[in-house]
Amino acid sequence: MTKRVQVFKAPDITVTFDPNVCSHSGECLRGLPAVFDVSRTDWVRPNEASAPEVAAVVARCPSGALQAVRPGVPPSRPCGGAEVTIRVEAHGPVRVNGPVMLELLDGSRSERDGPFALCRCGHSGNPPYCDGSHGPAGFRG
Ligand code: FES
Repeated sequence: MTKRVQVFKAPDITVTFDPNVCSHSGECLRGLPAVFDVSRTDWVRPNEASAPEVAAVVARCPSGALQAVRPGVPPSRPCGGAEVTIRVEAHGPVRVNGPVMLELLDGSRSERDGPFALCRCGHSGNPPYCDGSHGPAGFRG
């Protein structure tokens, strides 16, 4: 079942979180712990830092689950345009970055523009996306 995208607003930035593609790398939690804190119900508080700081941490989200929109600021394209990069991470997922069309087993197609992570360990609870289960599963590869 697809989970709903969460929206967190501050006057100068809106952060969205798509739990369906999160790989639980923890980059956001380490980057700005005052903003991203999973112990809170409202786990993203974009007003706890400046909009540029929040946007910078969101841009480092390796799964693309976090996105940010700032009024009057053009969206950054982490892939740098039309180039697609695919990187196999040691003991982890395949990281894809770029504008691609992802075809799923049920025949549906998902247009992706930016980073996302595909499971290659076989333990994800949300295939084909990595959900971070490779760590607890002790995946080596
Ligand atoms: S590679 Fe991350 S859950 Fe499989």
